[in-house]
Amino acid sequence: MGRWQTAYRVCCPKIVTRGPSVSAANSALVPYESRLFVKTALVYLVLTFALGAVLLGMTAAGHPAPYVLGIEHGHLGFVGWLVNLVIGVALWMFPLDRERFPDLGGRYPKAAPLWSYCLLNAGLLMRVFLEPWFAGGTPPGRLWAVLLVLSGVLQVAGIIIVGAILWYRTRGPRRPAPGVR
Ligand code: HEM
Repeated sequence: MGRWQTAYRVCCPKIVTRGPSVSAANSALVPYESRLFVKTALVYLVLTFALGAVLLGMTAAGHPAPYVLGIEHGHLGFVGWLVNLVIGVALWMFPLDRERFPDLGGRYPKAAPLWSYCLLNAGLLMRVFLEPWFAGGTPPGRLWAVLLVLSGVLQVAGIIIVGAILWYRTRGPRRPAPGVR
């Protein structure tokens, strides 16, 4: 039994002893795709704070960083941390739609969130690394310009996929109880 599972057994005995095994019960708590989004968000949170601290230090030392690093810091924070976190929690917590998405207990078609994750995060990383090259004055060339545009397109595609999943899961009850709208 791993360290975390032991800790879980001590902290939350009701949760871990209800299921067939400790690991099965733990993995049932948050689906894999949501954990992927949320843990990625936490990595971005640390990166955002680290870059923020560097920017602050440079300003305090009288050598403010190029403005474009502030923009990348903002994107790491808002897209990397906030958007990934919101998607991870929403895919997990929004009402299930078992008729439309039978594959994974009503959550989503199996591959959809993984596509969204790859498109969104590949696009974000491409932007964060490519954009500073364009802030220096001489444009770095056509190929890089195409890749920068592509970084935006990838992120839009990733968000459309997740938007479509959550659109269908934002719905009223199929068989509402009396008095429920
Ligand atoms: C998730 C948390 C955070 C988010 C979403 C966030 C977001 C932003 C945004 C949108 C900007 C404006 C970027 C621009 O247009 O120039 C900014 C600037 C800045 N942030 Fe943060 N921030 C976060 C955390 C922090 C932390 C923890 C620090 C310091 C330790 C920090 C330090 C700074 C500094 C120094 C700037 C000015 C950068 C410049 O333009 O020179 N931020 N932040």
